[in-house]
Amino acid sequence: MDPLYYGDYLHLDKLLDAQHLESEKRNRAAHDEMVFIITHQTYELWFKQIVFELESIIKIFDDPRVQETKMATVLHRLNRVKTIQWVLIQQIDVIKTITPMDFLEFRDLLVPASGFQSIQFKQIEIMLGIKRKFRIAADQEFFCTRLTKTDKAELDKLEEKPSILELTDDWLRKMPFLEFDDFNFWQAYEAAVEKMLASDEKIIKENVTLTDREKQFQLNDLTATRTRFQSVFDESKFNELRKQGDFRLSHQAFLSALFVHLYRDEPMIYTPFRYLSLLLDIDELFTNWRQKHAVMVQRMLGTKIGTGGSSGHDYLDATTKQNRVFTDLYNLSTFLIPREDLPELPSELRRALGYFFSGQKK
Ligand code: HEM
Repeated sequence: MDPLYYGDYLHLDKLLDAQHLESEKRNRAAHDEMVFIITHQTYELWFKQIVFELESIIKIFDDPRVQETKMATVLHRLNRVKTIQWVLIQQIDVIKTITPMDFLEFRDLLVPASGFQSIQFKQIEIMLGIKRKFRIAADQEFFCTRLTKTDKAELDKLEEKPSILELTDDWLRKMPFLEFDDFNFWQAYEAAVEKMLASDEKIIKENVTLTDREKQFQLNDLTATRTRFQSVFDESKFNELRKQGDFRLSHQAFLSALFVHLYRDEPMIYTPFRYLSLLLDIDELFTNWRQKHAVMVQRMLGTKIGTGGSSGHDYLDATTKQNRVFTDLYNLSTFLIPREDLPELPSELRRALGYFFSGQKK
C-alpha cells in the first residue's frame, strides 16, 4: 500500500474544488462571493460534526437503562459541541467583512436558495428537541415548502425519532433518588418554601420605606410566586400548564431536575447537574448564534426580505426568541430556595448519594 498522503487522506481534491461562484458563471464576477461560499461550507462541516456528536449521545440515551459509565463520554461530547458553537458564533465576523454594497453584487443570484434549506441545521434543531409543534408558525410553513422532497422526508423521519429533550425527560423521570422510603421530600420542600415566602411577606409588611400602595404591589407579586410554586407541587395543575405550553418536561422529570439543582453538591448528583448545565449552555449558545446572525442580517439587508422569502431580520428575531429547547431548565431557577433553607436529607439517602471507598486506612 502506498504511504498515506495528506491531500488524499483529506480528499482535498474534492473539498477545494467545491467553490463555484455563481457570479463567475454569469460573467459578472463578484470577489466577495468566495468568502460567502467558504464561510457557509465551513459551517456545514462543523454542523456535520455536531450532528455526529448528537447522534452518538442519542444512541447512549436511547436505552431503557442508560449506562452510568457512559455519562463521562456524554459530557465530553457535549462539551465538544459547546466548543464548536463558540467557533460558529465567531465566524459571523468573517461573513460581516462583506459589506452590504458588496453583497448586493451577487445577492440576486442566490434566490431562492437560503439558510432555511440547511438540512443539517434543521437536523441539529430537531435532534435537540425543537420539533415542529414548538416552532413559530412562519418557520413551520417554510419548513415544508422550501425543501426538496428527499430533504423533507429525511427531516420528517427525524421528527419521529426521540430527541435529546425527550430522552432527557425519560432519564430524569427514572432517577432513583426521588424514591425515599418514609421520607416525603416534596412535602418537606413545600414547607421550606412556605417558610421562605412567609419571611418575605413579613419583610414587605414591616418595611417602613414602602407606601401602602407599594406594599400591596409587592404582596401581589408574592401571591403570584406562591401560585407558581403550587403549580410545581400539584401534578394536575402542572399538567394543565404543560398543555398550555408553559412546561415541556413531564412533572416527574421537572421535579428530578429541580432536585438535581438543589443538591448538586452531593457527589452522585454532580454528574446529572453537569449534564443539565451543558444542555443549558448549548441552548444558550444557539440563541447567541441566532441573535448574532439576525443582527448581521439586519446590517446586511436592513428590512429587505431574505433570499428564502421570509421577512428577513424580523423572522430571525422571532426564531431567536422562540426556537429554544430546554426552556424548563432555565425557568427552574424560579423554584430554587437558599441552601440554608433546604430540607435535610435522611442520612441513609445522603450516604447513597456519596462516593463509596471501602479501602480506607484505619
Ligand atoms: C450575507 C450573509 C447572510 C445573510 C444576508 C443571511 C440572511 C438570512 C436570512 C434573511 C434568513 C431567513 C430566511 C430567508 O428568508 O432567507 C436566513 C436564515 C438562515 N441562515 Fe443566513 N444569512 C447569511 C449568512 C449565513 C451564514 C454564514 C450561515 C451559516 C450557516 C447562515 C445560516 C442560516 C440558517 C441556518 C438559517 C435558517 C435559520 C432559521 O430558520 O431559524 N446564514 N439567513
